[in-house]
Amino acid sequence: MGNVKISAEKVEKRYNPGAPNEVLAIENITLDIQDGEFVALLGPSGCGKSTFLFMVGGFEKPTEGTLRLNGQPIDGPGANRGIVFQEYVLFPWQVVSKNIAYGLRIAGVSQAEQDRRVAELINMIGLQGFESAYPESLSGGMKQRVAIARALAYDPEILLMDEPFGALDAQTRARMISDLTRIHATTHKTTLFVTHSVEEAILLSDKIALFSARPSRIKRVFEIDLPHPRRVTDDGFVTFEREILESLEQEVSDTLDGRLDSAG
Ligand SMILES: Nc1ncnc2c1ncn2[C@@H]1O[C@H](COP(=O)(O)OP(=O)(O)OP(=O)(O)O)[C@@H](O)[C@H]1O
Ligand SMILES: [Mg+2]
Repeated sequence: MGNVKISAEKVEKRYNPGAPNEVLAIENITLDIQDGEFVALLGPSGCGKSTFLFMVGGFEKPTEGTLRLNGQPIDGPGANRGIVFQEYVLFPWQVVSKNIAYGLRIAGVSQAEQDRRVAELINMIGLQGFESAYPESLSGGMKQRVAIARALAYDPEILLMDEPFGALDAQTRARMISDLTRIHATTHKTTLFVTHSVEEAILLSDKIALFSARPSRIKRVFEIDLPHPRRVTDDGFVTFEREILESLEQEVSDTLDGRLDSAG
């Protein structure tokens, strides 16, 4: 902790600039993320959360401003960023251990080292006994755990997660939240976590960056200084939840008003 890992300085993102279908997705995002920090990005639908994540991933470029990783402007994707999205991107024709080892194989890591690393990760995600199972035989939560293990396999510096638990049922999601809390406490990976769930954000994060309605700015940053493990029934939890929901609801209603205006 203490070093800035990711820094966004007056970042703007316009899609299709100059074209009739131009969209100003992000107006001005300035945000510092410290090494080891778990940061949730929260905001109304369409405000540019995924766009911001894609830019940190190097798949899109800001149209103004600068986005830095370790002090260097981000210029394209790299293996130092592990990615987990909502749709499980596992290879259906490969068993769990092969799926997890994918990045290691590409990087030419020795078989012995692959085996060691996969065993460690299987342990971390609690899927002992499923090494030779195909994805189709796994539940949604298990698949998502394999996706997380695969993202962690080549020991990235940061983890980028876009609504990774969005498709899971409530119980599985609760389990995944506590698993991810534990994994973060073990690995201390700097994590950017996009979610629509205020609850998820408070349970997991050191910091929550609340995006305004599009074109987005950072509306507020909440430092969540509650001890782990956290529960939704904690006094501190409820106080944060109320404050964040109020702030978010204002942006959601601005988004809906904007849609009504442009429809009418
Ligand atoms: N490739 C693209 N080309 C043009 N416009 C895009 C592209 N990707 C996103 N947009 C637009 O940019 C804006 C932000 O989209 P983005 O997907 O980043 O929002 P989001 O906050 O992740 O939304 P959600 O919560 O619904 O996932 C939207 O208006 C969207 O239509
Ligand atoms: Mg999105």
